[in-house]
Amino acid sequence: MSDELPQSDIVAVTVEHRIAWVSFNRPDKRNAMSPALNRRMMEVLDELEFSAEVGVVVLTGAGSAWTAGMDLKDYFREAEARGLAGVRMAQRESYGWWRRLRWYQKPTIAMVNGWCFGGGYGPLFGCDLAFAAEEAKFGLSEINWGILPGGGATKVAVELMSLRDAMYHAMTGEPIDGKKAAEWKLVNEAVPLEKLRDRVAEVAHILLKKNPVALKATKDAIRRVCEMTYDNAEDYLVRAQEAANSYDNEGRKEGIRQFIDDKSFKPGLGSYDLSRQKAP
Ligand code: ACO
Repeated sequence: MSDELPQSDIVAVTVEHRIAWVSFNRPDKRNAMSPALNRRMMEVLDELEFSAEVGVVVLTGAGSAWTAGMDLKDYFREAEARGLAGVRMAQRESYGWWRRLRWYQKPTIAMVNGWCFGGGYGPLFGCDLAFAAEEAKFGLSEINWGILPGGGATKVAVELMSLRDAMYHAMTGEPIDGKKAAEWKLVNEAVPLEKLRDRVAEVAHILLKKNPVALKATKDAIRRVCEMTYDNAEDYLVRAQEAANSYDNEGRKEGIRQFIDDKSFKPGLGSYDLSRQKAP
């Protein structure tokens, strides 16, 4: 392992008010994703996924970077020196935690504070929501050093951006700032860096007030129906709601009760009071 930090520190975690702030933590290397970092990130996701202390996971970066993408030395050169087995192992470790994020139990938010290149688009897409500093810089820089945007990055570009923007972004390798990333739909919103954490905390607190079973069902549904016909989606959504009911059949009944009987909230304007719900 060529990381200079003990492996446990390559990813930093703090939990405050049920929000887990998870940071890529190799600021000296602009948080480039080394195999050691990828392994540690998977462990951290394991630790947080079913923790009762955590309702939302935010993924951010220490220092000036969110992540400068794959570590060109540790992930590419050194893995390749170990032959095909080394390459495949490194790919499994990185793709593995990004896939895990896409289907994570808890809601996830990418808080892109700075540089975000190449392989960084994997976890960017893996997070349910993404907020960027206007000052952040995003780039599919692969073309600049002679490869195509692999590891899912090309797929991320066409999933999120228009074909023209994706093509321009991937073919020129020109970095764009957070404002442009929001315009091109790589992120939900861009705000000045000094306001980024507060804005993300605000959104996390909105999510913390929602029914967690419904949130997981909703985020999975959004990703799944992208690839379905209308009829298949309609059928999937019926079954997904019925499956969700097997974990929590009381939430929606309580939501209806607080609106229709108590008249204590309006579903069009906010959430029902979860604390008054009987345990599922
Ligand atoms: N892989 C390995 N090391 C990296 C990476 C990376 N992706 N990014 C930065 N580093 C290292 C640098 O080698 C340098 O190490 P050193 O101090 O031991 O010399 C250190 O991080 C700081 O990097 P600088 O370039 O000095 O930082 P600066 O703030 O000036 O620039 C920037 C930041 C623009 C992010 C620059 O480092 C860069 O272009 N990095 C590569 C970005 C990239 O193209 N990543 C690959 C995407 S493709 C893919 O992921 C598949």
